[in-house]
Amino acid sequence: MAAPDGALLCLCFILLCPGILGDEDSTPRCGYQACPAVKPEMLNVHLVAHTHDDVGWLKTVDQYYYGGKTEIQRAGVQYILDSVIPQLQADPSKRFIYVEIAFFYRWWKQQTEAVKSVVKQLVNEGRLEFVNGGWCMNDEATTHYSSIIDQMTLGFQFLNDTFGECGRPRVAWHIDPFGHSREQASLFAQMGFDGLFFGRIDYQDKNIRKNLREMEMVWRASANLPKPTADLFTGVLPNGYNPPRMLCWDVLCSDEPIKDDKDLDEYNVDEIVSYFRQVAHVQAKHYRTKHIIMTMGSDFQFQDANMWYKNLDKLIKYVNAAQSSGSNVNVLYSTPSCYLHELNKANLTWSVKTDDFFPYADGPHQFWTGYFTSRPALKRYERMSNNFLQICNQLEVLAASKAQNGPYGVGDSSVLRKAMGVAQHHDAVSGTEKQHVANDYAKRLSKGWDRCEVLISNALSSLSGSKQDFVFCNKLNISVCPRIEELSNFTVTLYNPLARAVRTYVRLPVNGTKYIVSDPKGSSVLNEVVAVSNFTKALRKNRGYAVNELVFEAWVPALGFSTYDVSRKPERFTFRRLVRSLGELQDERTSTLFIENNYVRVSFDKNTGLISAIENLHKNLTLPVTQNFYWYHASVGNEQSNQASGAYIFRPYQEEPLPMSKIVNTYTVQTELFQEVYQNFSSWCSQVVRLYKKQKFVELDWTVGPIPVSDLVGKEVISRFDTSLKTSGTFYTDSNGREILKRRRNYRPTWPLNQTEPVAGNYYPVNSRIYMKDGKIQLTVLTDRSQGGSSIADGSLELMVHRRLLQDDQRGVGEPLSEPGFDGKGLMVRGKHFVFLDTVEDSPELQRLKAEAEYMAPLAVMGVGSEAPYNEHQAPIKEFSALKEELPHNVHLLTLAQWDSESIILRLEHQFEQSESKVYSKPQTVNLAHLFSAFEITSVEEMSLGFNQQKKDMSRLTWNTAQEKDGSNSFSSHNSTSEHTVTLHPMEIRTFRVRIRQG
Ligand SMILES: *[C@@H]1O[C@H](CO)[C@@H](O)[C@H](O)[C@H]1NC(C)=O
Ligand SMILES: [Zn+2]
Repeated sequence: MAAPDGALLCLCFILLCPGILGDEDSTPRCGYQACPAVKPEMLNVHLVAHTHDDVGWLKTVDQYYYGGKTEIQRAGVQYILDSVIPQLQADPSKRFIYVEIAFFYRWWKQQTEAVKSVVKQLVNEGRLEFVNGGWCMNDEATTHYSSIIDQMTLGFQFLNDTFGECGRPRVAWHIDPFGHSREQASLFAQMGFDGLFFGRIDYQDKNIRKNLREMEMVWRASANLPKPTADLFTGVLPNGYNPPRMLCWDVLCSDEPIKDDKDLDEYNVDEIVSYFRQVAHVQAKHYRTKHIIMTMGSDFQFQDANMWYKNLDKLIKYVNAAQSSGSNVNVLYSTPSCYLHELNKANLTWSVKTDDFFPYADGPHQFWTGYFTSRPALKRYERMSNNFLQICNQLEVLAASKAQNGPYGVGDSSVLRKAMGVAQHHDAVSGTEKQHVANDYAKRLSKGWDRCEVLISNALSSLSGSKQDFVFCNKLNISVCPRIEELSNFTVTLYNPLARAVRTYVRLPVNGTKYIVSDPKGSSVLNEVVAVSNFTKALRKNRGYAVNELVFEAWVPALGFSTYDVSRKPERFTFRRLVRSLGELQDERTSTLFIENNYVRVSFDKNTGLISAIENLHKNLTLPVTQNFYWYHASVGNEQSNQASGAYIFRPYQEEPLPMSKIVNTYTVQTELFQEVYQNFSSWCSQVVRLYKKQKFVELDWTVGPIPVSDLVGKEVISRFDTSLKTSGTFYTDSNGREILKRRRNYRPTWPLNQTEPVAGNYYPVNSRIYMKDGKIQLTVLTDRSQGGSSIADGSLELMVHRRLLQDDQRGVGEPLSEPGFDGKGLMVRGKHFVFLDTVEDSPELQRLKAEAEYMAPLAVMGVGSEAPYNEHQAPIKEFSALKEELPHNVHLLTLAQWDSESIILRLEHQFEQSESKVYSKPQTVNLAHLFSAFEITSVEEMSLGFNQQKKDMSRLTWNTAQEKDGSNSFSSHNSTSEHTVTLHPMEIRTFRVRIRQG
């Protein structure tokens, strides 16, 4: 069944080939019922024609779409789709899968109605199948669950809008991400996927699984949700996502085609048929059913689909022809879902996996644990952009049409939503892209911010009833906001995206020394003015010149805003000098230096200037803690392996990192609102240890970079906390910001590990927190972005904050990770760690609430210039909440976003695990009708997590599992929503399509 030649195909395509397509019966036949016939008594080989299209990596997403910059990589996604569609159209037996909606959407926009209808027909017949179906194939180590859910929802939205039910993916397809998180699997299960396939798994794990025939299993991906809510059938693909050796027939490959004219030299059919049968039988030894899968395709393949399909046609023809002479191998065009369906029909009992697939190693000295930290500034920008997007989404709902169109222009949340969708890609937030591509991701986010700024301005103006010139200060972390520095009067409107009121400390660059700050009721609030530190001046360089920082505490109502007035006082007062200089500190070295508030005391070693102890004053807990920065000397290869540390791989040259400094210079700043110790570790590393008056944790505000490399040594910088806690090799890290996983040094829960990299092989992704504990005390560090972390010795925790390398690590990116920073002299990074010392019992509560408040922090928008009423009938208001009542502490408002003109997405999440808190780990009931004051709810429909199906219509394939855990928790996963009452169980997310009437 060889395909007709290309020219004929094109012609046929244009004329829509009524002969082929003229099928009056247009009822969709997609889904499992559309799967090809198999031969139950034979070994069935499911060929999956596919392309892996990175949403940016060596080229930007747009360059990949069009196929430009061929000198970097011969890859053009438009040509792939252009080329595949006529092949499918011409032959009903052919199949293709497509994955990345960021590309498909670009292509779709440019097609004619005729082509669109052809494609719809192919989708309706299951011949073109969408798998995964998110905006991108997201990274799993460095992504936050909030953004994973959003990017999947965005892809699903396009598919549902465009193709309806036949566009709904059944199978998750994470063939390239570099290790797999448990939370990702749990989210996939809750999105309704029947199975997950991936390609990358630790080489030791893979060998063992092959031998045990455990390449396919059921992943029980939540320790909280009742089975099978978070159960996901999971398959490890045999060859990553590539074809078997010698069987790659893409224009980018160089394997021999099938030469089937016996009259010609080099006839190779018999050879290939027998080789293929052998490959199939070998593969089948590692799998359990009479079905195996082969991924026929790879990165950006199928630009000339005819090459692949022509050879696959021959392969199928000749291998199957051998059946008449006794072969029991049956080859067919198939898809991952059709393969999955056969596995399900086999009705076997599958093993159960409950941990995750981190870290990933593809050799003894090749641990992919560097990317957990690579490009720390991009990682932070991505996390902040999620914060901003959630605020933008919420205000779009709260201000309705007045958000999109208003005095500030046309606002739009979709630009940032798409930019965030792209940024989740496994070569985006992961930090494994080329520098110019990283720049492109940041630029896209920034354009998204611009459009959201307009939307937010419109919304705040309409909700507050007042028009003013709004200034968004996006560089407050480096004390830069030129438009407010000189002003004697401005307002600060704080918007709080949480469903609970928050207290926050606002810190703004100013030039005055005395200010009056008034709260929304007009009472003046305590404020402090301190000098901008030299650390900050060195970091911001010529981007700003403010000399002081104004600090005050603000209160912001739930899902609402409050506006504070700031006015500068005449400067006849002398500036209170609060800063103690280094010289003064010398005097103090006779006594202990410490800072404290009502909750925490942090002591410093008087000789070294380093933190020496942390005390929880309420609970009377004291823990000696030494914190310092160190750097690992990056390996460039040695006699054991030539593997260098790079963008993906972390490989230190020696186990012991070098201390940044043994003695640090310090000075303190003490005010009524906060106390700070400034520590200067080196010319490129500093930290401020800060205690705000009412905060129960220590804030470590670190600045690292540019990492010097003039000694030609790549460096990987960590912040390390050393204590005397007896931790027996155990520590804990979060999975995508949600459930906690227990980690044990030099250990993997499911196989006997041969540890070959004592540092890199013990690194895990930290998306929001890492902690360690003994029987009584827990030390927790929350992060403001994803980082790699570990506990290399008992009582010790470390987080990698920055890395700069001089070698490429040979995994394709082809550039050493040496970020230039904004001035080309090397990237400087600033970030925060929040350190909690508490009892084991009380720790989760504080952590959960702070982690929530950190990733959905309040936004400060400055109002400058004269105010005008939004319209004459409206009196300006300075304090607003869209809620009638706050949500209880254990319920998080995960999503509040406009869906279409008549409905919104509402996601509520129980943010505690089962046994974390006596108070909060209980089921919680919320009445939606009593929640919002900004609008009235007219109807509520419960949806799947990805918003592409009603919850009641979700029906997933069921699987038999080996071990049935006893004492399994069993709240019904179909708990009803009576009227508008919603009950949430620990770690449960419930998603609703809500129709509203604006109040
Ligand atoms: C999905 O598409 C169907 C059919 O077009 C539509 O009725 C439904 O409302 C869509 N779902 C969502 C969540 O938009
Ligand atoms: Zn990839």
